[in-house]
Amino acid sequence: MIQIAPSMLAADFLHLEKDVELVNEYADIFHLDIMDGTFVPNISFGFPVVEAIAKKASRPLDAHLMIVHPEKYVERFAKAGAEYLSFHLNAVDNPGQVLAQIRAAGLKPGIAINPDIPVDSLYPYLGQCDYVVLMSVFAGFGGQKFIEATYDRLAQLKAEIVRQGASCMIQVDGGVSADNASRLAALGADILVAGSAVFKAEDPAAVIAAMKA
Ligand code: DX5
Ligand code: ZN
Repeated sequence: MIQIAPSMLAADFLHLEKDVELVNEYADIFHLDIMDGTFVPNISFGFPVVEAIAKKASRPLDAHLMIVHPEKYVERFAKAGAEYLSFHLNAVDNPGQVLAQIRAAGLKPGIAINPDIPVDSLYPYLGQCDYVVLMSVFAGFGGQKFIEATYDRLAQLKAEIVRQGASCMIQVDGGVSADNASRLAALGADILVAGSAVFKAEDPAAVIAAMKA
C-alpha cells in the first residue's frame, strides 16, 4: 500500500496544529523540508517547527535535508523527533559514512537526488538506505510542476533495487498529485510526498484518499 507524506512546507503555519491533525488522521508520514539558503536558494524552517510538530504528531517525521553539511545535524534531528532522515547525494563527500551515522543515531537513512543526477549514482548505496528520494522537481520550492522524465527514472531505479534485492523504499517528491499518483505507484513508488496538492486543496482528506486509491 502506497504511503502518503504531506509536505508541511505547504501547511498553514498560523494553524499548524490543524494541519498536523489532518496528517495524523488521514496520511502516513510528515515530510519536513529543511532548506538552508545555500544548498538550495530558499530558506524554510528549522528545529523550533520540527519540535512543535513532533509534540503533536502520531505519525513518523521524515526530514528532507536540503542543506550543506547535513552530517553536522544528524543527532539534532534525532533529538528533535525525526524518524526518517534524508540528505542530498551531492551535499556530502562520503555518502556511505553519513548513511551509517544516521543509522547509528537510531534513524532510518535516505539519500535524495535532484532530476539532473543520474539514478545510477545511487546504486552503490541502495543496500545501506531505508529509502531514496527521487526528486520530481528541482529541490528548493514547493508548488512546482512535476517533471515527466521522473517516470523513466523511477522504473530504472525500481528495477535496480529488485536486481540488488535491496529493501530500499522509493519516495517521489515534487509536483505529486492525485493526477500522477497511480502511475507512480504502478511504477514502484512506495512513498509519495505532496505539499500543494494536499494543503491547497479544498478537501485535503479527499485528495489523500484519492492518492491512495
Ligand atoms: C521541494 C521539496 C518538496 C516540495 C513538495 O524542494 O522537497 O517536498 O515541498 O511540494 P509540492 O507537492 O508542492 O511540489
Ligand atoms: Zn521534500
